[in-house]
Order: sequence, then structure tokens, then C-alpha cells
Amino acid sequence: MSLQFSKQNDAISSRFFRKLIRDKTIIFLIAFLIYSYFIYYLASNGSCRELGFEELEPNDYDLGCNGYPLDYRVKDQQSRCSISNFMPIYIHKSSNSFNSWIENFKTEGNVVESIEEACISIYLSESGLVDLSEFSPNLIVLNFGLNQLTFKTTVSNYIAVQSNNHRRHIDFATYLNVSDFDDDLWKEPPPLLPYTRKNFILYYIDIDGEDSLTSTDISTLLTSSKRSQDTIEILQCSGENSKCSNDTVRASTFQSSIFCILSSVQLFQRRFYESLQSGCIPVVLSSSQILPFEDQIDWRLASIKVPRARFPEIHFILRSYSMSDVLEMRRQGRIFVETYLADKREDKNFERVRAKPLFNNSFTSPQSVIPASPIYEEEYLGPLESSYDSPSHLHNFSSLNIYSHKLWNEFPMSAFGSSLEFLPIAYQPPTEVEFYPDSLEGFRPIEPGSGVEFSRALGGNLQREQFTVVLLTYNRDAVLSASLERLNRMPYLNKVIVIWNNIDREPPLSWPKLHVSVEFLKMTKNSLNNRFVPWDRIKTEAVFSLDDDIDLRQHEIILAFRIWRENRDRIVGFPARFHSRYNDLMYYNSNHTCQMSMILTGAAFIHKAYLYAYTFSMPSAIRKHVDEVTNCEDIAMNFLVSHLTRKPPIKTTSRWTLK
Ligand SMILES: *[C@@H]1O[C@H](CO)[C@@H](O)[C@H](O)[C@H]1NC(C)=O
Ligand SMILES: *[C@@H]1O[C@H](CO)[C@@H](O)[C@H](O)[C@H]1NC(C)=O
Ligand SMILES: *[C@@H]1O[C@H](CO)[C@@H](O)[C@H](O)[C@H]1NC(C)=O
Ligand SMILES: *[C@@H]1O[C@H](CO)[C@@H](O)[C@H](O)[C@H]1NC(C)=O
Ligand SMILES: *[C@@H]1O[C@H](CO)[C@@H](O)[C@H](O)[C@H]1NC(C)=O
Repeated sequence: MSLQFSKQNDAISSRFFRKLIRDKTIIFLIAFLIYSYFIYYLASNGSCRELGFEELEPNDYDLGCNGYPLDYRVKDQQSRCSISNFMPIYIHKSSNSFNSWIENFKTEGNVVESIEEACISIYLSESGLVDLSEFSPNLIVLNFGLNQLTFKTTVSNYIAVQSNNHRRHIDFATYLNVSDFDDDLWKEPPPLLPYTRKNFILYYIDIDGEDSLTSTDISTLLTSSKRSQDTIEILQCSGENSKCSNDTVRASTFQSSIFCILSSVQLFQRRFYESLQSGCIPVVLSSSQILPFEDQIDWRLASIKVPRARFPEIHFILRSYSMSDVLEMRRQGRIFVETYLADKREDKNFERVRAKPLFNNSFTSPQSVIPASPIYEEEYLGPLESSYDSPSHLHNFSSLNIYSHKLWNEFPMSAFGSSLEFLPIAYQPPTEVEFYPDSLEGFRPIEPGSGVEFSRALGGNLQREQFTVVLLTYNRDAVLSASLERLNRMPYLNKVIVIWNNIDREPPLSWPKLHVSVEFLKMTKNSLNNRFVPWDRIKTEAVFSLDDDIDLRQHEIILAFRIWRENRDRIVGFPARFHSRYNDLMYYNSNHTCQMSMILTGAAFIHKAYLYAYTFSMPSAIRKHVDEVTNCEDIAMNFLVSHLTRKPPIKTTSRWTLK
């Protein structure tokens, strides 16, 4: 059996390791990861050959070495390493200190007892010395130690995850020994503002950085800083310099600097990590230094690489960064470190989304609503259709490819531990597709005319789509009833989910019968966070979050839906709020002014992906606070979406002003 191994720009495997490091768990993605290890190297690529990997037949088209994540050809090991199954992993016995890691592998991966059954094998190492008595196919070594990997037996085909000594295009660079997750960890990093810090530059030279610079270079830097009156601190970390060796002191030095020039070899990954965490922009004094998951993370957004030869100009270069650039890099660095490099535990309780509705299909009590269409609907709103679910998981594979850069760098949403059901940033087909028989499904071309056609097509040019109403209610049966009645015969409605938050009482057995199903979910805990659980009964991308006492007319809701469809990554809705800071005071009000910054989720369209983000990925401290104050879930959602998109919500108009 020949070994077919690979790496390079491997979205899947880096995503896997990122996840692994964050959660110390394996996710279902392991299947893809493992698969990717069978990508062949391109014969033309030197590094592939040097490793002794089997060369491709000349006519094979290979994606592996060219920056693409997947190659769909598998040879020999197909049966064990199928792309559509959970691939078996074997974990080599190593130190007991990795027991908790191994447990996590077992709970989420398909761990087998015998190496013969495995597609991939994993070795966790502390010291860098790997003692493998048997030949291991498809070996991944996670090296927590600082020393280079040394094998007792000849192993040539492996991929290492470690903090130094990387083989370019093969290994993964990262600092693995990060602190364990702790609920309060989010309090540690310093605020990103103010911009000014004590040092303009911190030049950090490690003991091992001897090859670095001559004293002339350093004195050039110092002279230059004297002229500009920028403070430059130089940290020579040889011997017992407590500023280097004491973690607390070192962190505070990093935190009081705007730029951190890192000149370190052995400890580079760790210092890079610390620098990002401190909000000190890493300046990497090397053009060849490998950065963590650099195939996926665009480090130009958060760090600066300067070749050594350019050192004399470094002060000039750093000075050329504007205040807003610096702050943006600081922010982006913080996101990268928190999302990909730190141990960020997510709420894994996916069970919560599988609530069973209280009343099953054989239950027929609901009182009928007099179907006369409400008198105020003088406009045609669209056809009444049966429920049509949005197609889900359309991007299982392409999100690792076409959407990969966006998801890693601009929109860290892939962090849910499973493939995304719906992708708010997915591309829409071009409008012309509605004229071709193979692609017109779900489109309703707009005929020229009165605007009626425009209503019928709901903005045309986009595929057929419906929305789900998620109605939060507690105890007001009459209010709920009226609210449901208003939804009767509303076009584009997929279903109504009533979140029954009253844990002491069953919901009424009689409620208005609508043209779509109404599902009551009884909560086990009265929490406002329930409104944002991504219930698996929500089958559409669009979720209309609604309070039971909001009185909106159907055409207003349809208008908001239409606007949301063109702004799928934002909150679109009605009740606007204004918040601001003025000196040390925070202001928040609902005055009817043009100044507003939030749309409350009492009546707003939200993409379902944000419900996953809210429930599983947002720091749990925020959800806890919502429970403590029984309030503010809408503020949290607004901040979350703006944090992910850097965009404000959109207010749609209504016939009267809804407070
Ligand atoms: C990893 O960190 C722990 C404590 O945070 C420390 O005891 C251990 O020595 C570190 N291991 C390495 C290889 O640096
Ligand atoms: C690090 O420095 C701080 C402040 O000077 C001191 O309180 C602490 O004990 C030091 N820690 C170690 C491990 O030396
Ligand atoms: C539906 O619910 C009723 C009681 O509400 C129960 O008697 C019946 O067995 C349920 N049917 C199914 C198919 O679950
Ligand atoms: C995508 O992945 C999900 C699991 O996360 C799975 O349920 C679904 O069937 C997959 N869909 C496709 C089209 O592969
Ligand atoms: C906005 O509302 C607050 C609180 O109701 C009030 O104190 C304030 O004067 C209002 N501001 C304006 C500009 O109307």
C-alpha cells in the first residue's frame, strides 16, 4: 500500500486543528480532514517530491498542492477513508497527561482500537520525542513541547502541529499550550482602546534570537525614535530578566505597547499569541516565518511582516500606519486569537434544539379564525402557498472552498462545530437564471406593469423563499390569540413556532387555526434566551422574531421580509432603539428620532445562522446576564450581529411609528 499524504492550503485540516485546539475535541469534520490527507502532492512541487510521496500520474489533475483543499481521488485506502463516512482514527498511547484530550477524541470522533482499521493515526507528544514502534499510516503528531520532533523509528510521512521547526506546506504552526477554558477568561485581555500606549514599539529579543541584529541597527532605531519622541522599549531576554520570564510582567509590557517587534525563534508562536492577546500588533521580523494556519487566516489583517533587511526603516514603516488602521488590526487580532488560537469552549448542548412540539398532528382543537381577509389589506401581498422549506446544508463542501476565506477572516461563523445549515453570506444566482429552464425553479420573473407583479414575486430576482415566525409568549392567552390571528393567511409564512415560556402552566388547548402549522414548544426554563435557540423545526433561513403584543399589519411584515432578503446578513425590523455613550454615561432610549442604532427583536427578521451564533458561540457570560436581568436579549443579539458583520441593522417603516 502506498502512502498518499498531503497538505498545503488545506482548509479542512486547518479547520480541524483550529477546532481541536480550541475545544480539544474532534468534530464531524474529521471525515474531511482525514480525507484531505490523501491528497497527492503535485509532482512538480519540490517539497512533495522531497518527502518521498508518490508522484501523480502525469495526466492526473491534482488540487492538493495548489492551494485547494480537496482532491476527490482516493486510492487504496478508499474503504477506510471514505469521504462520506466518519473516518476511523487510531490514537497512539502516549503520556497520561493527554487523557482529557483522548476522551474528547472519543466522544466526537470515530476512534478505533486497532491501527489496522484506522484511516488516520494521532500521536500526542510532550517532549518532541516520538516513540513509534510500528509504521503508522497517515500520522498526525501534536507536539506540545518546544523541541523538534525526533522519531525513534523511521517515519517520513507525517504532519506535525507544533510551535516551531515547521516544514513549509506540510506542518501546522501554532502555540498549543494555551490556558484551559475558563468562564471568566474573557475578562483578561485589555480593552482595545485607548489607541495610545506607553511604548510605540516594543522590540522583543529572545535568548535564541542571537542571529538578529547588529548594534548599529538598534542604535539607528533608537536615534530615530529620539527624533520623533516615540518611546521604544528594547527587551533583551537573556538571563534572568523578569520582564521576559515572568508571565504577568511580560503581559503587562506587551499591553503597554502599540507594536511588538518579535525576534524569537523557539518561542515565536507563543510570543505571537501573547502579542495578539495583548492588543499589541505583532511585527514579524522575517519574511519566511510561518504563522498559525496561515493558509486560511489572512494575517495581513492583524500583523505586519518585515524582512530583516528592512529593519533600518522599520520605525518609518510603523509610523505610516494610521490610528484607525492600528485599531482595526488590534480588533482583528483579538478576533483571530479568540476564535482560532485560544481554548474557547462552546455550548455543545445541541440537544436543546430538538424540542418536540406539545401538540401532535392528530390533535385538532384550534378554533377557526373567520377567514375574511382583514379590511385594511387593500394591497395584494403575494400568493398563498403551502409551506416550502429553505434547502439546507447546501454548502457543506463549498463552505470549505469558495466561502472559506470569508468564513475564516471576515465572518467567523464556521465555529459551530458542524457544517452550517444556512449561510447568510452565500451567493445568490444571477438574475438572468430565471429565464433558463434548468435554473428558473423558484423564480417569478417580474412582468413590467403596475407593481402587482412585483408584489407577487416579492422583489423578483431571488428564489422562492418563506419565513418562520418565532413568537415568544408567557402568560397572556388572549394577546397570543390575537397575535396568531393576525398571521392568518399571510403569504410567505412557513410556520409559526410559539415559545411557551411559562413553565408552570400548559398552553391553552385552543388557539386560532392558521393556514400553516402552529407548533407550541414548552420550555423547561423560563428564559429569554429561548427565543434565539436554533430549533430544528425552523426550516427557513429567515426567522421573524416576534413578541406576542406587537401589532403589525401583514404588508408591513412582508415589506420587512423583502428588505431582509436583500440584506440577509443583517437584522431587519421595526422597533428602533438608540444607544450611545457620552463621557462616562450610557444612554438608551426609544425617542422617535432619526438617530437609532438597534432594532429590537420583538419584531425583526434574523438569519437562522445568528441563532446558532447566539446560542452556541457567543460567550456564555452574556446569556447568563440576560437570564439574571430577564432582559437585554435583544441588545445582545444586535451587538452580536454587528460584531460579526460590522454593519448596523436596518429599520423598515410601518404605517405608524412603532415604539
Ligand atoms: C504548558 O503549560 C503548563 C501550565 O500552563 C505548564 O505546567 C507546562 O510546563 C507547559 N508545557 C510546556 C511544554 O510548555
Ligand atoms: C511576577 O511578577 C509579579 C509582580 O512583580 C509578582 O507578584 C509575581 O510573584 C511574579 N511571578 C513569578 C512567578 O515570579
Ligand atoms: C398525539 O397526542 C395525543 C394526546 O395529545 C396522544 O393520545 C396520541 O397518542 C398522540 N399521537 C401520536 C402519533 O403521538
Ligand atoms: C451536510 O452535513 C450535515 C451534517 O452537519 C448533514 O446532516 C447533511 O446531510 C449534509 N448534507 C449534504 C448535502 O451533504
Ligand atoms: C429622549 O428620551 C429621554 C427619556 O425619555 C428624555 O429624557 C430625553 O429628553 C429625550 N430626548 C429627546 C432629544 O427628545
